[in-house]
Amino acid sequence: MKILVSAGPTREPIDAVRFLSNRSTGRMGIAVARAAAEAGHEVALVLGPVAIEPPDGVRVVRVETALEMLAALRAELPAADALVMAAAVADFRPAAPAARKLHKGEMPAAIQLVRNPDILAGLRPLKGNRIFCGFAAETDDVLASAARKLARKGLDLIVANDVTAPGAGFAVDTNVVTVLRPGAAPERWPLLSKIDVARRLVALLETLATERPAP
Ligand code: C5P
Repeated sequence: MKILVSAGPTREPIDAVRFLSNRSTGRMGIAVARAAAEAGHEVALVLGPVAIEPPDGVRVVRVETALEMLAALRAELPAADALVMAAAVADFRPAAPAARKLHKGEMPAAIQLVRNPDILAGLRPLKGNRIFCGFAAETDDVLASAARKLARKGLDLIVANDVTAPGAGFAVDTNVVTVLRPGAAPERWPLLSKIDVARRLVALLETLATERPAP
């Protein structure tokens, strides 16, 4: 299969040196890219700014902002059989970033924000028969929130996790996830390393792909 993965945070500029971002390290999405490549798939990884190295054998497209991530994914999607959207896209961006560094005294007391587009929703018209997989990092009401996102974003599956649970979430190498699919009971996976979560997810994508015609 040709698998398109997004990973990492996005960075939304305030000025030439400052930005808004989030705690994503890219570990989970990079693990998905690695597992997919190891399983023999052709992988494109659209990667926000992260400190860790992407895996060998994966084509990497580096992006910074949510709008750049959307453009890169839109360009890559036609060639893909599946999209795994593991990136932690910033929900908002400063409305009017300054092209140069603002001096301390020039910094406004409040920064006006605008909403970033929902990338998965924006790509939905291009979905066709492709498998779309989202991630839902939650801190409360995990399964209900994830189920709403599954439906609202029109996904084939969503990988939900409580980022406050021990062994789960950002900056750790393990994860505890529940996989939700439309019309199926939620499937809770045990505490696994992120690479093992990724391997199980890739195996699930392979199964789903055999159940549908190619895009
Ligand atoms: O709505 P929420 O951000 O919790 O949804 C998470 C899922 O949606 C993830 O798969 C994430 O990559 C994706 N997402 C997106 N565009 C956004 C925000 C999140 O595609 N602007």
